Amino acid sequence: METWDAITSRRNVRSYAERSIPAEDLDRILEAGRRTPSSMNEQRWDFIVCTDEGQLAALAQVWRGAGHVANSAATIALIAPRSDEPSTLESIQYDLGQATMSIMLAAADLGIGSAHAAVTDQDLAQSILGFPDDRFCAWLIALGYPEDRPLRPIMRPTRRPFDDVVHRGRW
Ligand SMILES: Cc1cc2nc3c(=O)[nH]c(=O)nc-3n(C[C@H](O)[C@H](O)[C@H](O)COP(=O)(O)O)c2cc1C
Repeated sequence: METWDAITSRRNVRSYAERSIPAEDLDRILEAGRRTPSSMNEQRWDFIVCTDEGQLAALAQVWRGAGHVANSAATIALIAPRSDEPSTLESIQYDLGQATMSIMLAAADLGIGSAHAAVTDQDLAQSILGFPDDRFCAWLIALGYPEDRPLRPIMRPTRRPFDDVVHRGRW
């Protein structure tokens, strides 16, 4: 897929076909995450990739908006260092946002749908994923081939109008 097509085709896909993702494609998606730029190249992230059905069903319980994780073909948990410093957390979240988009675009390029999920129950996430006490699970990214229709460029996205968003030179 062309880059522009991947950008315009990506949408949150929350129902997935019963089809696994080939290992090399999953690794390519993870590699896109690894290559993401980060503040001072600190790379304050680890990725835990889950494909086991039972584990995915358990992970889907970490937040009421994470139900789609249960029927994903794979889900990537973004793990980051804990910090009490608001500016550090803000910077980590910016970097994780970029990693998320790299992962989602690499998936879209392969025709694979993706969806975010927040994580509110950190104790449950840690018991399922086994990350150390000085880390937290920031986000989940569920992946799978769309059950409804293949990814295609979206002509009328649900977004604010271009001229409302874009300011030229001055607000
Ligand atoms: C920071 C962030 C958190 C999100 N958390 C969730 C979530 O917990 N569960 C969910 O189903 N979707 C979640 N979403 C997906 C958004 O609802 C979705 O991106 C938005 O409605 C736009 O739709 P689109 O991605 O299909 O264009 C999240 C998106 C972002 C950027």
